[in-house]
Order: sequence, then C-alpha cells, then structure tokens
Amino acid sequence: MATPPFGCFDVIRVMAALRIRALSIAVMTSLGMAKGSYGFNMVAGVHDRHVEKVLVTGGAGFVGSHMCVALLEAGHEVAVIDSLENSSSVALDAVAEITGQRPVLVVGDCRHRSALDQVMSCMRPSVVLHFAGLKSVAESVVDPLRYYRHNFQTTAQLLAAMKRNEVFRIVFSSSATVYGDPEVLPVSETVQTQPANPYGATKLLVEQMIADVVRADSRWSAVLLRYFNPVGAHRSGLIGEDPTHPPANLMPYLLQVAVGRYDALPLCGTDYPTPDGTALRDYIHVMDLAEGHLAAMEYLQGASSGTYTFNLGTGRATSVLELIGVMREVTGLELPYVQHERRSGDVAALWADPSKAKRELGWVANRSLADMCRDGWAWQSKHPNGYCS
Ligand SMILES: NC(=O)c1ccc[n+]([C@@H]2O[C@H](COP(=O)([O-])OP(=O)(O)OC[C@H]3O[C@@H](n4cnc5c(N)ncnc54)[C@H](O)[C@@H]3O)[C@@H](O)[C@H]2O)c1
Repeated sequence: MATPPFGCFDVIRVMAALRIRALSIAVMTSLGMAKGSYGFNMVAGVHDRHVEKVLVTGGAGFVGSHMCVALLEAGHEVAVIDSLENSSSVALDAVAEITGQRPVLVVGDCRHRSALDQVMSCMRPSVVLHFAGLKSVAESVVDPLRYYRHNFQTTAQLLAAMKRNEVFRIVFSSSATVYGDPEVLPVSETVQTQPANPYGATKLLVEQMIADVVRADSRWSAVLLRYFNPVGAHRSGLIGEDPTHPPANLMPYLLQVAVGRYDALPLCGTDYPTPDGTALRDYIHVMDLAEGHLAAMEYLQGASSGTYTFNLGTGRATSVLELIGVMREVTGLELPYVQHERRSGDVAALWADPSKAKRELGWVANRSLADMCRDGWAWQSKHPNGYCS
C-alpha cells in the first residue's frame, strides 16, 4: 500500500486508541496514485495544475463525498473531518472505489476544538471546504435553536481553528435559501437576502461571520457558494444521497418511492402562483456543483483578500411535476403522488442567475435534468436502502 500523504495521522490513530477526547478513529491511508484529469466545465482558459491539501468538513455527506471524488480526480490531497451524524463512512469506501485513492477520514465533530486542531496540525491544509452542518428546512422550523446552535458553533470553531493553525482560505457551502422569497427572478447575488426559514437564517449568519473574519485580517479570503438544489449522483451509482431520516427533499423522496420504500410522494403545495401550481426550483447536478468548488478553489489562489459570493445553479426553473415527469421517463415507473398542503418555510419559485460564476469563475453547469434523474436512479436502484444495501 502506498505511503499515506499525511504521515502524522498515524499519531492520531494511536491517540484515538488511547481514547483521547473528541477525536475518534477511522484514519485511512492512500490506496494508490491513479489520478484523473480536471473534468469541470470551464468555459474559458487553461488552468495550471496546482496541488492543494484540502480539508473537507462534512466530507462523508452527500455533497462532500462527491466533492472528494472531484478533488482526488483533480490530483489534490484530501482529508475529511466528519462526525458521521448524518452520513456513513461507507461513502468514503465508495470514493476510494471510484478514484483508486482513499481520503483520510477523521471521525470528529467540528464543534470540538481538539478534533480540529489535531487534523489541522497533522495535515497543514492549504484550503478548507466547509460542508459540515445541518441542512433540513423542515427540521429547522420545528427546532430552530438546534439549527442556530449547531451551524453557528460548527463554523465559529472551524474559523478559530483555522486561525490558530494559519489556514486562511475557505470555501463555504451556503444556500439559495438566504434569498427567501425574492421579488426578482432569476436571483443574482445582489438581490436582497431575506431568509424565509431558520435554516436559511443560519446560512446567512455564517456568511456574515466569515465576511467579518476576512475583513478583520487581510491574510484571509473566502468564497461563499450559494447552492440552488443539488440532486443526482456520481454516474457510477456508487455514491449518492442517503438521508438518515425520512427525506426532506424532493429528489431523494421520489427515488425512494421508485424503489418501493414509500408508496407515494407527498406533493407539498399545488396552489402556488406558477404555471402548474407546483413550486419552481433550480436543480443542479451534484457533480456540476463539485466542479464549481474546484473553480472556486482556483479563484482563491489568485484572489486578493476578500469575501466573494457566487450562485451555483443552472439558471433553469423546473416545477415539481416536471421533475416527476422526467423521473418517470428515466425509470419507466409510475411514481404515484398525493397532494398535500404547502410546507412551512417553502417559497413558490427560486432559480439562479448564474452569470457571475460563469464570468468570474469560468464555470457553468452542463448536466441536464435527465442526467440528474438518470444518475440519481443509478445510485438508488443499486442501493435501495442507501449505504446499508
Ligand atoms: N443538499 C442540499 O440540498 C444543500 C443545498 C444548499 C446548501 N447545502 C449545504 O451543503 C452542505 C452539505 O450538504 P449535504 O447535502 O452534503 O448534507 P449532508 O447532511 O449529507 O452532509 C453534511 C455532513 O456534515 C456532517 N456534519 C454535520 N455537522 C457536523 C459537525 N459539527 N462536525 C462534523 N461533521 C458534521 C454530517 O455527518 C454529514 O456527513 C451543508 O452545509 C448544507 O447546508 C446543501
């Protein structure tokens, strides 16, 4: 087996065995050196290959695991810190199967200073991609304090650890929910932020915290990526979205109806002021999203100190009924649904103006809605019960 890229993770393993607090086990080493090429959708320019040491918080989760694939295939060195409270380490086994390389995994909570210090002092990352957090709009409406506490503390501890360990570049997973129910569509980054639910408010709070930290110290720079609706899976079907609770999002619910885990999709809201009465969203393939992060990392290499905000979306609005229609074509299944009330915290329509990302990052989302459905189905049909299958 090849030498692990970060030798002192062996020390962490020993410390974990000795039960040193807040940092548990799961350190894995590199399997090999097979490396792919940059695969993202650059619309202009040739990009020099610059190897980064990337710390991915929440890297075992849905977006984070796809990010690990994109990073490893682009030749970067990757370590993940994840509490596994909403994910499984099996996702990183699958990342290794896809890429031929296994990211280092430290099982730890970013709210714990010692876990972060250990991983940072060992790895000495050049950049942090920050995915760790809670993400359900519905849960945040029911238990807002949990969301504020968790998402705030996770990032505050992370930024403090980055400062102690002199890591000054961060890419943050923000969300289009910061825009709330905008008056102008499509939404550009300059539209007034006015979150319509506590989850979105925590994202905005964290964005502001990062911007303040950057403003206070010119060694810092940050990219805030406002995702629209990430769906789909890696085309291999080896990794995908595996919610630990009943899915709160449309696509994973629909896929679980397709494999028979639910009888019918609850169609929440059929009286919105939209052409077919169902909500309009901007669905983006999760691999397009991951490639947007590669572009953001490159951007930060050349950027002066500052906080840079980008929408990551396709610019296309799709209704719930349209998405169901495409999924029916892809799967050949009926996919029943039942009409329900609107959900609290949901808005009628939200889609991106992604032109700033195209102009400044040189990135566009290329994959179609059919690609998203096909790849999501490749994952779910191979894993009807998620990573437990
Ligand atoms: N998926 C979406 O629809 C969507 C949309 C917009 C923004 N985002 C944001 O993108 C990020 C990733 O989303 P996802 O869909 O991959 O979610 P996910 O729940 O699949 O992944 C989040 C990961 O973070 C881990 N985690 C949570 N809190 C942690 C902590 N304190 N310390 C260490 N690990 C922790 C979880 O175990 C999980 O593996 C989140 O911040 C989310 O808010 C997601």
